[in-house]
Amino acid sequence: MRDDKKGIFLVVEGVDGSGKSTQAARLADWLENRTGRETIRTAEPYILRKLILRRKDLNSLSEVLLFLADRAEHVAKIIVPNLEAGNNIVCERYNDSTLAYQVGGHGVNLKQVENLISACDFPAPDATVFFDISPEIAFERVGARNNKLDKFEAEGLELIKKVSECYREHQKLFNWIRIFCDGLNEDEVFEKMISALLLEDLF
Ligand code: TYD
Repeated sequence: MRDDKKGIFLVVEGVDGSGKSTQAARLADWLENRTGRETIRTAEPYILRKLILRRKDLNSLSEVLLFLADRAEHVAKIIVPNLEAGNNIVCERYNDSTLAYQVGGHGVNLKQVENLISACDFPAPDATVFFDISPEIAFERVGARNNKLDKFEAEGLELIKKVSECYREHQKLFNWIRIFCDGLNEDEVFEKMISALLLEDLF
């Protein structure tokens, strides 16, 4: 049972190019109207973004630890204080990105990453929306919107395929809201997401 004094904590996940940012912006507006509570839209990586996204030579375990350090700051400075003040949070990427990218994409041991995440004891979201899209479509979008790719985007279709596979494996384990995005326009994805969220009994 949720603590109703606290805000609602929603996470959106998916590969680069899956449409997360567009949908997160619309979701935050919708949630603010629906609940009458201030809604903060935020994203990870948070403060270590430049360091992590530019350094191509990071050891893969260091990369995990940096994402977790980044999350610890984000949780302490943005997520928890806002939820406790009764504000909602819509966050792009969270623990499942670390599992999908560092385990699925970069081959770090699953148990090790799960243990590290669980030791951090970050608050669990009330719901996670996963935008499931064909890696090929996502890859095309990333190419079309960017002339300067970050290090993950520069790994190209191969990485997107591995990450996507890992997200899909997770879907079998966790009760995410999964939106199949292939062939849908922005409005259709949004409507599907909202219909699914309304079934969650959060609002
Ligand atoms: P960003 O430009 O924010 O991409 P997007 O808009 O697709 O989220 O870059 C974030 C990148 O960092 C993205 O490629 C995924 C990666 N990432 C991880 O590998 N592990 C993580 O735990 C997080 C939070 C992000």
